[in-house]
Amino acid sequence: MPRDEAYDKLEHKLMALRQTSRTGDERQTMSEVFDKGTILSIYKLMKDGIIDTLEHPISTGKEGNVFAARDPQGKMIALKIYRVSNATFNRISRYIEGDKRFRGLSGSRRKIIMAWASKEFRNLQRMYDAGINVPKPLRFHRNMVVMEYIGTEDSAAPLIKDVVLEDPDRIYEDLLRQMKLMYKEAGLVHADLSEYNILYSQQNAVIIDVGQAVLIEHLNTKDFLYRDIDNINRFFRSRGVEVKNRDDIFKNITEMEE
Ligand SMILES: Nc1ncnc2c1ncn2[C@@H]1O[C@H](COP(=O)(O)OP(=O)(O)OP(=O)(O)O)[C@@H](O)[C@H]1O
Ligand SMILES: [Mg+2]
Repeated sequence: MPRDEAYDKLEHKLMALRQTSRTGDERQTMSEVFDKGTILSIYKLMKDGIIDTLEHPISTGKEGNVFAARDPQGKMIALKIYRVSNATFNRISRYIEGDKRFRGLSGSRRKIIMAWASKEFRNLQRMYDAGINVPKPLRFHRNMVVMEYIGTEDSAAPLIKDVVLEDPDRIYEDLLRQMKLMYKEAGLVHADLSEYNILYSQQNAVIIDVGQAVLIEHLNTKDFLYRDIDNINRFFRSRGVEVKNRDDIFKNITEMEE
């Protein structure tokens, strides 16, 4: 175990987080997420000058947690930690099959979950480079991804499903544009796009949770893209938008330009 001030500070912080967790479930989550390996990984990110302090959990889910943290300049950043568990493994394995970037990868559950975090990072990078509105990727290490924090000092940005949209038509059109950019410029399909993976920040839609995004040559791209379109249409229809025909959207996203 490293013995220095940074490590002590981190341990203290984690203990405090555990104690302030409201429910037994939350405490359980905290102790599961922060196994030895993960604590050491956060410590490494601190030593590397990526993270200075861990602030508070933004979200605790079955497969991982997202934390608000700060970089050495005091700027807020988001840290997503995948839990090394069966639940995580079961969800991700079907996406990994058929992705050429994972060819030849075998071995432990842990290794595959780490490859998954690196995949989320690389997907974010491709999307960010293509000009899509996603959090800027900052670093990945083992089972964690560090990225731009979306929100204010007071709170992380809400999911799009939890806000009253001022102009849902504009957001709808913007998301269709982003889906097209994703396909054409990044060569990816999100594959889990819905109101649960879109944040609303400064009147704009920010797409998150891109670990499962697949290359367009993936076997199931067509199904994934149709599902994404259907989810977006369903949500915006419920917000009073006169949505477009799914096949027309699909064609528009995938059409070849002369
Ligand atoms: N960069 C970010 N800035 C602010 N909040 C974020 C960021 N990334 C994720 N979040 C918050 O964390 C939540 C979970 O993130 P994400 O959707 O990426 O993970 P997940 O694997 O779906 O986790 P879960 O199983 O808990 O839904 C999001 O709904 C959002 O509230
Ligand atoms: Mg999600």
